[in-house]
Amino acid sequence: MTVLVTGAGGQLANELVRTAPKGVDLVALSERELDITDPDAVERTVLRLRPEAIVNAAAYTAVDKAESDVDAAFLVNRDGARSLAESAHRHGAWLVHISTDFVFDGTSGTPYLPESMPHPVSVYGASKLAGDMAVRHACPSAAIIRTAWVYASEGKNFVHTMLRLMRERGSVRVVADQVGSPTNARGLAACCWRVIERKATGLFHWTDAGVASWYDFAMAIAELGMATGALSRPATVEPIRTADYPTPARRPAYSVLDKTSTWQVLGLAGEHWREPLRRTLEEIAKDLCHGECVHG
Ligand SMILES: NC(=O)c1ccc[n+]([C@@H]2O[C@H](COP(=O)([O-])OP(=O)(O)OC[C@H]3O[C@@H](n4cnc5c(N)ncnc54)[C@H](OP(=O)(O)O)[C@@H]3O)[C@@H](O)[C@H]2O)c1
Repeated sequence: MTVLVTGAGGQLANELVRTAPKGVDLVALSERELDITDPDAVERTVLRLRPEAIVNAAAYTAVDKAESDVDAAFLVNRDGARSLAESAHRHGAWLVHISTDFVFDGTSGTPYLPESMPHPVSVYGASKLAGDMAVRHACPSAAIIRTAWVYASEGKNFVHTMLRLMRERGSVRVVADQVGSPTNARGLAACCWRVIERKATGLFHWTDAGVASWYDFAMAIAELGMATGALSRPATVEPIRTADYPTPARRPAYSVLDKTSTWQVLGLAGEHWREPLRRTLEEIAKDLCHGECVHG
């Protein structure tokens, strides 16, 4: 079975490559190899590879930059997604498209269901929602997986930013009034593989289990960072309010996703977020140790 993954080099794509099941002929293409905003290139690639499934892990993910780079965000997140969906539909490939908790405004006090009304409050969120709608229209059999707060042992993410700041400064200030669910990219990759295996269709929510504020997440990174050796000295974490840390993009204050239906349909449940975080920090610590050994 040939599976095409777009956005190679990104966090999710890397984990899809690492965890591809036996029997899968995986072709992961970077932006340089397949720019999803080029409809002809998308069509040529799908025709050449004839994949049975496509995972669109490519996205414009710079949430703050998107506020002043609106066209670029929509070009990738809406138009690129649409091109892939059109080619997938034309050639009978199963499409798995990845979306975000940022399609919601964060005013709910209970976890968002797949059928909850989206209402993005940022350009990134609006561009991703436009992409979801374009995908559903162009390829009704597509699976769309909404996820949140993704991190991995490699890539640009909150865990690496926190570790760097904790090492450099010994203390960090982190917003405590935004709540969501940290999500390990490997678990998200497992969800994608299960969707492909079951040929699941429709809208899914996937994050790791449990909830946290960014402050809680940072506290766990500090604690588990010491326990695993990813940090060599303790760091303090100070809770602050969103108002104390203004950013160009507004973020939902509450973006917990309800995963009940996804876990039932896929027969796969996420672990509590602390466990995958611990394993990721162990991997980071191992890489650090290896780097130090290699460089003396
Ligand atoms: N990260 C999160 O916290 C988070 C939260 C919710 C949802 N999601 C969604 O989850 C999915 C995977 O996210 P991720 O964290 O793996 O993102 P990521 O690490 O930022 O990877 C995205 C990849 O897409 C590539 N890309 C950008 N424009 C492209 C184009 N025109 N054609 C082909 N590739 C292009 C990027 O390449 P360059 O690096 O060269 O630009 C990058 O390698 C995305 O749909 C994202 O919206 C992520």
